[in-house]
Amino acid sequence: MADNTLSLRALLAGESDWIATTANFAAFVFHTLPHLNWAGFYFLQGDVLVLGPFQGRPACARIRVGQGVCGNAVARRASILVPDVHAFPGHIACDAASRSELVVPVWRAGALVGVFDLDSPELQRFSAADQALVESWVALLLHK
Ligand code: SME
Repeated sequence: MADNTLSLRALLAGESDWIATTANFAAFVFHTLPHLNWAGFYFLQGDVLVLGPFQGRPACARIRVGQGVCGNAVARRASILVPDVHAFPGHIACDAASRSELVVPVWRAGALVGVFDLDSPELQRFSAADQALVESWVALLLHK
């Protein structure tokens, strides 16, 4: 197991509070993966994603399911890797500096509860390996 995954496991161990856990998770990812300008959560309230703990500039507070990369990830119930945000129809530009994006669904007790969103100012910042790594990290939240 990669060292940073062990560090994340240690960071999350022994804490069950959802806000404390997701806030530390966002800070860990933001400061562990290079070349990010935003990393954070949106949580579902009905058919709207509402901003959760994050690192980066202030962001859009609400995104409808089906809108933007985040809302599409919920609708598809799957991760979305966007190499160039300008080529994604309906991309929501919270920060004009963002050029690529990765959105991973967040599951809790068998239910889809939201997404974890990573933005980068670099084109094609995220690889399939990054997607698999972030999905494995998000899976650590499943039983929190
Ligand atoms: N770009 C996202 C919106 C959220 S921000 O990037 C923080 C989207 O299209 O859903």
